[in-house]
Amino acid sequence: MCGIFAAISDRPVAGVLVEGLKRLEYRGYDSAGVATIDDEGLRRVCAVGKVSALQQRVEAEPLPGCIGIAHTRWATHGAPSEVNSHPHMASGVAVVHNGIVENHGELRQRLERQGCRFLSETDSEVIPWLISCAVADGSGPARAVRSLGEHIEGSYAVAVMTENDRNVLHAKRHGSPLVAALGPRGGYLSSDISALAGLADEAVVLSDGDQVELRRDAISVFDKSGRPVLRARLPIDAVGEHFDKGGHPHYMLKEIHDQPAVARAIEARYDKSPFVAEQVALDFNQIDRIRLIACGTSYYACLVAKRWFAEVAGLSSDVELASEHRYAPVVADGQREAAILVSQSGETADTLASLEKLRGLRTPTIGIVNQQVSTLAREADFFLPLLAGAEIGVASTKAFTAQLLVLARLVAHAAEQRGQRAAARRLRAALGEAAKTIEAVLHNEAAIVAVAGILAKARSALFVGRGALYPLAMEGALKLKEISYIHAEGFAAGELKHGPIALVDADTPVVALAPSGDLFPKLASNVREIAARKGKIILLGDRKALLALSDVADASLTLPACDELLQPIIAAIPLQFLAYHVAVARGCDIDHPRNLAKSVTVE
Ligand code: M6R
Repeated sequence: MCGIFAAISDRPVAGVLVEGLKRLEYRGYDSAGVATIDDEGLRRVCAVGKVSALQQRVEAEPLPGCIGIAHTRWATHGAPSEVNSHPHMASGVAVVHNGIVENHGELRQRLERQGCRFLSETDSEVIPWLISCAVADGSGPARAVRSLGEHIEGSYAVAVMTENDRNVLHAKRHGSPLVAALGPRGGYLSSDISALAGLADEAVVLSDGDQVELRRDAISVFDKSGRPVLRARLPIDAVGEHFDKGGHPHYMLKEIHDQPAVARAIEARYDKSPFVAEQVALDFNQIDRIRLIACGTSYYACLVAKRWFAEVAGLSSDVELASEHRYAPVVADGQREAAILVSQSGETADTLASLEKLRGLRTPTIGIVNQQVSTLAREADFFLPLLAGAEIGVASTKAFTAQLLVLARLVAHAAEQRGQRAAARRLRAALGEAAKTIEAVLHNEAAIVAVAGILAKARSALFVGRGALYPLAMEGALKLKEISYIHAEGFAAGELKHGPIALVDADTPVVALAPSGDLFPKLASNVREIAARKGKIILLGDRKALLALSDVADASLTLPACDELLQPIIAAIPLQFLAYHVAVARGCDIDHPRNLAKSVTVE
């Protein structure tokens, strides 16, 4: 949520800053801005909307200067507008900020009383004023940046430059991600390591509370008490790995098609060695209950895992939305718990707050994370990587299937430890079929395009499923609403008659997840109840299931037959395709849906 990029070089940096922002655009695209310092002082250019709008402005009004900071914004305080765009400036100080200043109202009043004049509605603008007041009181810029911690409540990563010292960029992080790197042409700061591809070979990953002084040829890092400190350096992958759409028109489509390869990468890492046992030093015989915590799509993956834990490992679990868990009362019931936190980005603010709470309760934590350079990956007690590669599309696709595949591996490991060997073997065998079964669904894309036409005309759609496919119904609805803006809800099929069936009419398509299995007869009855009310039914199921309901289906999509344990993973693919093709048919901006951002680093 909001992307920071900064550079100090021996040549003008405006171009590299705009390129950096393009790579960070998935973090927010309400507005973008860049500031540099040249002989005449600070200059700033901003534009509402995507980074391409800023790029046009920068091309029209070139920005000289070999030191600069840049920002792409996801609006929290104040509408997307030029005046609310970062960088914010105050008396020779320019700042870009990611996070939220929770006590900004109080700080603003105090600073206004001291004569500071605010231009924007943002919380962030207090930061340059705090720094410039500290500098006016005699602090050097580094001390002034350090003193932010004394004033600000909330989370932040900031990059700061001052007219008085054009040879140093200052940065500090507290609860929002930031990395620094040195390359042949200078130094860089970025919210995300992948945006540094091609500029440097390795990056320094900052810890919470760290402050950085970045020069053209040196990075100095200081911990929260101001002591110089050495932080881990991580290699920066090549550019192509992150930003290539592989010939597809959108990242989302490319990422849907990446899924067989992701399944194979997970299979290779997780199956051929006791990988989970090496990573997770927990004895699942000593655990009474699992707590699964996540947000959005990752939460739906946890709901599927809950069923697997029960069915395969005989372990009960609770699944909680991180935004609820962080403030929920704690019940000390003597149960021995382990918590699993699932996140694509590893930077979701609510999930990190849950991690903090669990630490306080001394609950062992397992982070299942795609971004290996992330707070959750680093700070959970144990870490399982998703191996999905960079997911740029805001709508999560391959990270979701990777979450399911890795959670299933963890379930199989827990089942084995708990002596449920046959169940573990069955789950592993099913997972071994995942890549080729996903591939079979991808070959069915043309049929999905035809069905998408039905949904594209709807104002509202329902998704229903039972058992492990109930979370998939919710995921299918989320995917559709976030990129096509069609109102959609996912329900447990058996719940329809308790209220939602009132929504069913000839104009409201119902997508029913109906593969063969123990629950099929129940689901089939629910589908017939919908048909009796003239609902338009789109069925997803294997041939046998589709045949059994062919008299009531308005459209159907064939899923390959597979072990029931694998069904939620396989069902994800047509739901992603459906959402994608509906959004294409409606002319939506697939990779940048309105109001959203990829990494939700605010509460
Ligand atoms: O990075 P995380 O997995 O923690 O993100 C959680 C949600 O914000 C995310 O899954 C969101 O719901 C996606 N846009 C869904 O496509």
